[in-house]
Amino acid sequence: HSSSLLAIVSHAKEYGFIYPSSEIYEGLQAVYDYGPYGAALKRNVQNLWWQSMTQLHSNIVGMDAAILMHPRTWKASGHVDSFEDLMVDNKDSKKRYRIDVLIENHAAELSAQGEKTRAQELLEKLQALLQAEELAGLHTLLLQEKIVCPISRTANWTEVHRFNLMFATKVGAQEENADTIYLRPETAQGIFVNFLNVQKTARMKVPFGIAQIGKAFRNEIVARQFIFRMREFEQMEMQFFIQPGSEEKWFNYWQQARWQWHIALGLTEEKLRIKPHAQLAHYAKAAVDIEYQFPFGYKEIEGIHARSDFDLKNHEVASRKKLQYFDPELNQNYLPHVIETSLGSDRLILMLLCEAFTEETITEEESAKTRTYLKLHPALAPIKAAIFPLVKKDNLPQKAQEIFKSLKYDFPLIYEENQSIGKRYARQDLIGTPYCITIDHQTLEDDTVTLRERDSMQQERVHVNILRDFLLEKVSF
Ligand code: GAP
Repeated sequence: HSSSLLAIVSHAKEYGFIYPSSEIYEGLQAVYDYGPYGAALKRNVQNLWWQSMTQLHSNIVGMDAAILMHPRTWKASGHVDSFEDLMVDNKDSKKRYRIDVLIENHAAELSAQGEKTRAQELLEKLQALLQAEELAGLHTLLLQEKIVCPISRTANWTEVHRFNLMFATKVGAQEENADTIYLRPETAQGIFVNFLNVQKTARMKVPFGIAQIGKAFRNEIVARQFIFRMREFEQMEMQFFIQPGSEEKWFNYWQQARWQWHIALGLTEEKLRIKPHAQLAHYAKAAVDIEYQFPFGYKEIEGIHARSDFDLKNHEVASRKKLQYFDPELNQNYLPHVIETSLGSDRLILMLLCEAFTEETITEEESAKTRTYLKLHPALAPIKAAIFPLVKKDNLPQKAQEIFKSLKYDFPLIYEENQSIGKRYARQDLIGTPYCITIDHQTLEDDTVTLRERDSMQQERVHVNILRDFLLEKVSF
């Protein structure tokens, strides 16, 4: 399984999708850069989400808040006091471990050895101790289960301690007097503090939503899972403001709607599941995750959370500003409750790459070879079509350029005239380009081209006149 993740990681790097950050300096752990095709893929995915939220729902509008916010935001939101993981440090190696990860891994090992009941008991104990915030109890559990001991002597481990996941920095010129501010660990708070601004200026009536796409930062203690858990990542969040009392209805609605969205992307339904949270975040009344079966197991890609009026209420108290909404239908003031949908762009991209990465054996005249390609939906593919003159002479490049220019205003294209046609096809397969258009001598006579489809490798002869409409139809959902 992990071998298929490794194959995807190296493919993503080799073909211009995702590189380790600052690679020439050995990289920065859990931070990644998007290359030409990765950046295009990310834009396509984000545009699709943005469109499906703001364009398809007349009661959802978008916004774009700053990453930096007033420090009091994070006190009020509960992140200063509660946004933390429980850790234990190895004093020898100076390595830090998340308690839940240590224990979950240990349980998985037990389970693999056939000790399923013990594994289950261990996980239940973990949940109970986490809920009760029993730090000493967690420490004892680690020792009892010999989870830390086998690696080194007990004495070399610190007590279990809390670790806040927010990145702190200083604002202002003089470090000593400067205020500590945080890089936002979720985009949601930019929406909560602007709730009334948006409601009034866009004349929204409850129920309504605010959608936003942006960076978030968490000082995660990471397992090596590529872009699954990053320290700098992107979220696509939507906060839906509703009348108190209608939480259940809207929680169910958004759970369904988000599930359908992922299915509509063409994901394998059997690999998706909805899972209620075992442990609720400090702000949540109810929460479910949409999970995808990655090569390293089922993991969360999107959360749907009922946040009640937790955030607006806390900001109202902390800022001493009224954040109540006047409901003209009820003729009443109240703080709306919130159902939130929160999807990570990077996780969505990892999921799409896992789905798209295809290695196929094809037999040709008794020899077998492997063909690797990315089966991305044409609407998401970074490049929609590649244009090739069959040879670099006889005016074929000029004719191909003519066709290229006639289509480039509507689609991201690649023009390529070097190498054999087979190699050029193979290269486009690797970056997921759904169509290749080849111009040959016949084109000069009758304006027909060869259109080759990525997945089937089928080729057909078509007139240049149909290309634009054909591609337009294919590249939309
Ligand atoms: N506002 C709610 C919130 O932030 P969350 O479950 O902590 O909820 C929501 O995060 C989504 O953000 C996750 O489902 C995941 O897709 C993405 N996400 C969270 N932490 C991440 C990380 N360290 N790296 C990449 N994506 C992350």
